[in-house]
Amino acid sequence: MDPNGKKLVLEGFAQAFGDTEGVRCFFAPGRVNLIGEHTDYNGGHVFPCALDIGCFAAVRKREDRVMRFYSVNFPQAGTVTTSLDALVPQSRSGWTNYPAGVVWAFGTHGCEPDVGFDMAIYGDIPNGSGLSSSAALEVVTGTALRALYGWDKVTNVDIALLGQLAENEYNGMKCGIMDQFASAMGKAGNAIFLDTNTMEYAYAPVHLEGMKLMIVNTNRKHSLVDSEYNLRREQCAAALADLQKELPVKTLGDLTEEEFEAHKDLITDPVCLRRARHAVYENRRTIEAVAALRRGDIEEFGRLMNASHVSLRDDYETSCPEADILTEEAWKIPGVLGSRITGGGFGGCTVSIVKDEAVDTFVETLDRVYREKVGYPATFYRLGIGDGPTEI
Ligand code: GLA
Repeated sequence: MDPNGKKLVLEGFAQAFGDTEGVRCFFAPGRVNLIGEHTDYNGGHVFPCALDIGCFAAVRKREDRVMRFYSVNFPQAGTVTTSLDALVPQSRSGWTNYPAGVVWAFGTHGCEPDVGFDMAIYGDIPNGSGLSSSAALEVVTGTALRALYGWDKVTNVDIALLGQLAENEYNGMKCGIMDQFASAMGKAGNAIFLDTNTMEYAYAPVHLEGMKLMIVNTNRKHSLVDSEYNLRREQCAAALADLQKELPVKTLGDLTEEEFEAHKDLITDPVCLRRARHAVYENRRTIEAVAALRRGDIEEFGRLMNASHVSLRDDYETSCPEADILTEEAWKIPGVLGSRITGGGFGGCTVSIVKDEAVDTFVETLDRVYREKVGYPATFYRLGIGDGPTEI
């Protein structure tokens, strides 16, 4: 966690709201998904981990029903003022819809604040990087609300679910549970193996002896992400409806590859068929990958990461040329065990497992080739696997 984060967010609070007396500070992490992409809204498995970067919040209750928000990252937006009585889903645009949406979501579950608050935010997750800056903002807001209003019965899983509800209903992004869950339930040194069908989860230590987890940002500016994402969901739902004509399954995650192959002709639309094939195979790959990691077979884990990328590129079509360049170059380098696009896609980051002795070559080669082919630089991060949300 950035040791300066608390200082920066408190400075922001003082600048926006005058002083910092009685202010409480919180942190929630971003996440990287190791494998299990676009499976979380298909009843499949995911395998993300929380990062040691995230979102800091400085918060103080008020005596009236006003809520004021200020972001150290977007000072030009100034202080945004709203009210507990103005919480209408999809009423406004802008970053404050995320924390306001969480307040709204808490309200739908019997946790209604009696008074408003002032909140300053500082985040060190690059925006649009696919490392879940919005989930971190939602989870830090939920963590702060629980503490400020004394809602002790609210669990971290509740905070994740309410964050997802806020994003689905308040912001219109029909995301699954992975990002908020990874942020709310993170554990240092561990990835989280979550079955989104049952919400059962288990921690799996990520021991990468002699290797590094490398995250590379394409810096691709993406737009239309939400609508493309929502479209993928609809395509998977259409494929499932076709399969359900003969199969008694509730989600695509219920299917094995064999069952899918035996019944895939039921899916009338060829595009929906490819989307479903990704969802089914990616789910099975995730289960296999976690088993491989647990027996220390990182080579197999890496092969499954590569296969995940190919499937996202060809069947799910959520990769982009920039991420394809980064992964395909990485695969050529001896000592790179696996490399894939991570997160929702259409830009964002790749995640790779690289042997220590190959890290320099990995960075030098990808940096050079990416500049040549794309025309602007990629950014390389060496991040750790951090804990979930906390008061700081
Ligand atoms: C985004 C969503 C997640 C998940 C991923 C793809 O990050 O918020 O719920 O669907 O995309 O795996």
